[in-house]
Amino acid sequence: MAMRELDALRSTTGEGEAADWQIEPLIDHIVSHHHTYVRNALPSIGSALATLETVHGRRHPELAQVRWHVEQLRLDLFHHLLKEEHLLFPYLRDLARYSADPGVVSNSPFGTVENPIRMLEREHRHAAEALRAIRQLTRDYRTPPDGCASYRACMAELAEFECDLHRHLHLEDRVLFPKALELERIAWQE
Ligand SMILES: [Fe+2]
Ligand SMILES: [Fe+2]
Repeated sequence: MAMRELDALRSTTGEGEAADWQIEPLIDHIVSHHHTYVRNALPSIGSALATLETVHGRRHPELAQVRWHVEQLRLDLFHHLLKEEHLLFPYLRDLARYSADPGVVSNSPFGTVENPIRMLEREHRHAAEALRAIRQLTRDYRTPPDGCASYRACMAELAEFECDLHRHLHLEDRVLFPKALELERIAWQE
């Protein structure tokens, strides 16, 4: 996604100042807003696609491929969110509290925080590729002339999902992870 698009997204979502947020409110926001959204949206889109496929599948065989990508995303992302919530984020919360209480940072289960970050970034790229495939298959979420209102609603949900996931990945890749690396550097230096 181009930087200009990201700037536009940030300014319309109130996340424009996210770079200035402390790490804990940032994690709270990511989990309560973006993780909850992914958990709700993917099953809902998956079942809408299954219904569409029964009605329009013969004339629009690409719906089956879209549903496959959405199902893969659901499996991959649900796992990914758990890794962030149970592995990385608790360690980052400890790092954030380090200056007040150095005792809270014990040895991490993964060595340096660079290791899980590298893995999570790879998974982000994978998710972004799936989004590109879905956008291509649906021709930019277009409803075909023979599509019904449910078709249109499903395409709108997919487009919204793409937008939210890009914001989510951007917050982690460009804001949260750099902050985490910096906090660890400071904690390990002392
Ligand atoms: Fe996340
Ligand atoms: Fe993530």
